[in-house]
Amino acid sequence: MFGYDKDSASALDAISWAQTICFAPMLFKTAVLLKRLGVLAALKEERAQGLTKDELASQLGLSSYALGVLLDMGLSGRIVIEDAEGRFRLTKTGQFLLDDRMCAINLDFTEDVCYQALEHLEASLKLGRAEGLKVFGYDDGILYPHLSSLPEPARTSWFTYDHFYSDAAFAPALKQIAALNPTQIFDVGGNTGRFATVCVNTLPSVSVTILDLPEQIALAQDKLAGLPNADRIAFAPVNVLEDKPFPTGADVWWMSQFLDCFAPEEIVAILRRVHAALPDNGTVYILELFPDAQRFEAAALALNATSLYFSAIANGNSRFYRATDFIGFIEQAGFKLSARTDDIGLGHTLLLLKKA
Ligand SMILES: C[S@@+](CC[C@H](N)C(=O)[O-])C[C@H]1O[C@@H](n2cnc3c(N)ncnc32)[C@H](O)[C@@H]1O
Repeated sequence: MFGYDKDSASALDAISWAQTICFAPMLFKTAVLLKRLGVLAALKEERAQGLTKDELASQLGLSSYALGVLLDMGLSGRIVIEDAEGRFRLTKTGQFLLDDRMCAINLDFTEDVCYQALEHLEASLKLGRAEGLKVFGYDDGILYPHLSSLPEPARTSWFTYDHFYSDAAFAPALKQIAALNPTQIFDVGGNTGRFATVCVNTLPSVSVTILDLPEQIALAQDKLAGLPNADRIAFAPVNVLEDKPFPTGADVWWMSQFLDCFAPEEIVAILRRVHAALPDNGTVYILELFPDAQRFEAAALALNATSLYFSAIANGNSRFYRATDFIGFIEQAGFKLSARTDDIGLGHTLLLLKKA
């Protein structure tokens, strides 16, 4: 991944980065507060002249002390700059933190879903269960049954994060699926039905069945009721971790950001049951995010960071896998990889599997 096989940093760069890591939580909280307290927006508004600390303090109803500590850390974090007259302006990084949708979604996800829960990362890693869920009042170590009832703002930030990434990949993936002329698609882990909706609206003769936990199925039924073409969407409450055969009848199985929710042996077991339920000429599509398939270093960092969310908050045994490992799971389940398309949407990979 990204030439991480060499350590070519100078000693000064290395210790500077080490210090940034030591104080990363303070830097993150500063970014959150500069944004949420309105400092970044106020600086954008006055981008020509800039604003002094005291002008910001009176405009935002905060103390000069509060602005002082936040702005100084904002300088260290290269979120703002200050000129010789003490007037602050946004840097490009500050502008991205304020206006870029991906930054906004990642910041909200980290702050609202992950920050407090990461306090339980060590216990989660040692126990192999998501101990961080305790901060939301859940003691059973698995997030998924609680998704629809997560307290706000975690619930909104979780769904926004999930949808943002997968939504961007659905249209290009559907172009490939359309070429197969499928009649029945099973969407495993279909969540609130966003893929199913795009699918029935794009492919006029296809039917989609969403397979998911009962809690998500109820949410999806609610969301999709009365929408155009929703009569071609069916629902199947299924817990794929229960050792039961999967339903049959689909020529295409679709799994988007789904198998990363499981441990390797669970992935292999799920895929084996898909294999058993799939006709010999059937197709499995897997849309996944792989840190070792990213074009940008920041994207790999985001995925590796999100793996720690899986550890502390999702279930304690899943992650975003390296593609090199994931393809091994596919083969163990009796499939062969027939096609791979990297860089779909925002860094997704689309895998097309056939029975080996
Ligand atoms: C990360 S979301 C992905 C949602 C959607 N496919 C997408 O691409 O945005 C994972 C989905 O898997 C479902 N899921 C997790 N564990 C499951 C299980 N044991 N059985 C069935 N569905 C499960 C969750 O309820 C959730 O809807």
